[in-house]
Amino acid sequence: MPSLVPPAHPVTDVPPVLEETLLPGERESLTARIKQLLHEQDAVLVAHYYTSGELQRLAEETGGCVSDSLEMARFGHASKAKTLIVAGVKFMGETAKILNPEKRVLMPDPRAECSLDLSCPADEFTRFCDAHPDRTVVVYANTSAEVKARADWMVTSSIAVKVAAHLKSRGEKLIWAPDRFLGDYVQKATGADMLLWRGSCVVHERFKAEGIRDLKREFPDAAVLVHPESPAAVIAMADVVGSTTQLIRAAAALPNPVLIVATDNGIFHKMREVAPGKRLIEAPTGGTGATCVSCAHCPWMAMNGLKNLLAVLESGGQEIHVDEAVRLRAVRSINRMLEFAGQSGMALAGRSGD
Ligand code: 13P
Ligand code: SF4
Repeated sequence: MPSLVPPAHPVTDVPPVLEETLLPGERESLTARIKQLLHEQDAVLVAHYYTSGELQRLAEETGGCVSDSLEMARFGHASKAKTLIVAGVKFMGETAKILNPEKRVLMPDPRAECSLDLSCPADEFTRFCDAHPDRTVVVYANTSAEVKARADWMVTSSIAVKVAAHLKSRGEKLIWAPDRFLGDYVQKATGADMLLWRGSCVVHERFKAEGIRDLKREFPDAAVLVHPESPAAVIAMADVVGSTTQLIRAAAALPNPVLIVATDNGIFHKMREVAPGKRLIEAPTGGTGATCVSCAHCPWMAMNGLKNLLAVLESGGQEIHVDEAVRLRAVRSINRMLEFAGQSGMALAGRSGD
């Protein structure tokens, strides 16, 4: 008898947020050596907006890229460099490898996980999909290579609504995994028939609508910017809902002098650059009396630093490998999205500075 309710995998083993500490002068010497090795090894740094300002600056100064996960995938694919250094979390490194099997893909710390990826083990997900053969399987980028291999489509947050609307217009019913909040948002935005996996992001699930309401009372001119991995009550308060790149663009474009931002606070580095005169406030995570695990910063993103970046360049270790049979299946679901993005005018639209 097929099960209609997917299993829940609450992720309890969340590491503490440990930011890298550097001695005086260390930053400069590390940065200089990294720049030299990137050049010598024909390597580029592909960094996510949630990594440290230091890494983001370095990526931009050395011809790499800082972006959301859609553009990270596309940049790595388009780049001519022999080596991609992915400063982000494991699924981003795997996606780079899936799209670029001929390239060496390194990560400063491959233990950098993601609670969404962890919440969706490939074997259980496969069983769930097999129990619903009439449904098109759409998975978020924040999943393992094996889960992408089982999917028909992979999507990122910047394109999820468009893809679901497209599939609905073709009369398709969907399985969506693993983020239940993003899935709920996509379902409401499109009216698609979707069965949702029950994963969540340990950073975004903590944002509290009540705390945002209090801030809105204090700052009536503020706009609220929300990443769609947040709970529905938080999304309901948003002036803008979008991927990291979409939120950064909104921060620059909105006339409001104050912005309340419900996403990882690593994004503030780029937001300060594009919206210099505006006051940026972190959306509250804890609420009265609650305990805060992440405090608006992803503990796995925080594992990327200058020291381990230099170490992988020196050793060539921490290389990402994906089994070839898995890769060949996973690349189909990613390419579907990339082709769709190109056709729907999203070509190269997700990088800072574009
Ligand atoms: P974006 O695709 O919006 O960059 O999101 C990736 C992510 O992991 C958000 O938590
Ligand atoms: Fe995963 Fe959340 Fe970290 Fe993004 S912020 S990588 S969704 S745990």
